[in-house]
Amino acid sequence: MAKEKKENRAANIIAKRGIFYQAFSIYKEIGGFYDYGPIGLRIKRNVENAWRRLYVDRLGSLEIDSTTLLPEIVFKASGHLATFTDPITKCMRCGRSYRADKLLESFYAERGDAESMAAVSGMSQQEMQRRIKEHGIRCEKCGGEFSQIERFNLMFKTGIGSVGEEVGYLRPETAQGAYLDFKPLSKMYGISIPVGIAQIGRVYRNEISPRQQLIRMREFNQMELQFFFDPGLELEEFAGMNVKELTGRSISFLASGEKEPIEASIEYLLKNGKVPNAAFGMILNLACRFIESLGFSSKQYRFREIEEHERAHYAKAAFDLEVKTSYGYIEIGGTHYRTDYDLSAHAKMSGEDLSIMSNGKKVLPHVVEASFGIDRILLALLDTSVQEGLERGWEWLDLNERVAPYLYGIFPLQKDEKLVSKAMELSTLLIEKEVPSYYAETGSIGKRYARADEIGVPKCITIDYQTLEDDTVTIRDRNTMKQVRKNIGELV
Ligand code: ATP
Ligand code: GLY
Repeated sequence: MAKEKKENRAANIIAKRGIFYQAFSIYKEIGGFYDYGPIGLRIKRNVENAWRRLYVDRLGSLEIDSTTLLPEIVFKASGHLATFTDPITKCMRCGRSYRADKLLESFYAERGDAESMAAVSGMSQQEMQRRIKEHGIRCEKCGGEFSQIERFNLMFKTGIGSVGEEVGYLRPETAQGAYLDFKPLSKMYGISIPVGIAQIGRVYRNEISPRQQLIRMREFNQMELQFFFDPGLELEEFAGMNVKELTGRSISFLASGEKEPIEASIEYLLKNGKVPNAAFGMILNLACRFIESLGFSSKQYRFREIEEHERAHYAKAAFDLEVKTSYGYIEIGGTHYRTDYDLSAHAKMSGEDLSIMSNGKKVLPHVVEASFGIDRILLALLDTSVQEGLERGWEWLDLNERVAPYLYGIFPLQKDEKLVSKAMELSTLLIEKEVPSYYAETGSIGKRYARADEIGVPKCITIDYQTLEDDTVTIRDRNTMKQVRKNIGELV
């Protein structure tokens, strides 16, 4: 992540409208846990539904909902037990823990030494230890010195059963569910490859330094697609899409070690070996399609190539998808070529044959994964859509209709019984027609417009005395603030 500012541009609206907020705050606050309020939840669901429309419905994937608590053997096989770790160091005076790599990164960021900052992710534990000492980096809280760096596993451990006889872990990614279910699903649903297994759900990571609200949480939400394919066959077509056409698309691509991204077609990146295969290329195209469907423009995001030493243990190739926000570029998703790493590991550990017939042969499929963090997407949407509202006098969200919490706010001009009843009637009608809308009668009409703008509602409908005569209403547009008169019949 690039150099960060402390506050999100939409911080005022987030706090004022309770879009999300610190969890269990009436007790002790613990970093990295947030609850969504009603408005945030509506936006979150809209993001999930946009994802589902593409990654599940359009691709014809199997969507599953697998358990979040899994026995230890799963993570022994997947490699998470051994490798899902961060380097931590503790203040020897006050005991506070820090991520050693993050300490060094912020040290170099403050000095504007981008080169050393970028080098941190490739440093060995000994090298980090040496540099922390050499630079005299101390605890930011009490100025104490740091202990030896140790590896800390990010998974939350628990005991299953009355005396905890079975060790379990909360999952750190949804992906394992798809690998564990691959065989039962192929039996029950008779699947053939290529096929996608998709999942939206909670994941847990005991992050050492949770920070910046939804960016580094300890309990968060992912949307992941595992795309299973036969590595021996060229992927030319999938779900009625021509893969060559998809890879013809240009993307903004930041190669590892480079400072500036280039515009390059996925096909070009395939030819020069940056993109490992056509399936990965197709998944990159879908990621563009998805995030543009949420309202991000192609200028707002880029793909960053992840070098081998920075990649997760299962990935043979990886691109992060980064969106430009007031924090700098933040990673909202990743595309990983996981090969047959996971299926092969689970086959070995369980003794089960996880291969499938393809083209007359038994094949252990390879996987390209599309992984998105919902919370970071939501934060990036709020951050990039907030408008200062110099003319209107209040900040507002320029959210795309697809993600806005409601399409319409419905307001009687005054609290007059006849207007109220007509407005309520329209509100009920719209809700019954599944048009996301809400009714509000409190406060002046200007105040109600302001509150609707603040949460990004695209249109407000006002019922006035003329409505009672001719069934027309005024419709105010959030962005232009212009009003037009329309017949109610045209709305539904
Ligand atoms: P980072 O480098 O920021 O720690 P990561 O590379 O560990 O992230 P992945 O393991 O690829 O992230 O996870 C997939 C997606 O899940 C990320 O792109 C991000 O959107 C989201 N994500 C990861 N960790 C967190 C977290 N602690 N809080 C919120 N979202 C997260
Ligand atoms: N499933 C990929 C990740 O969480 O990193």
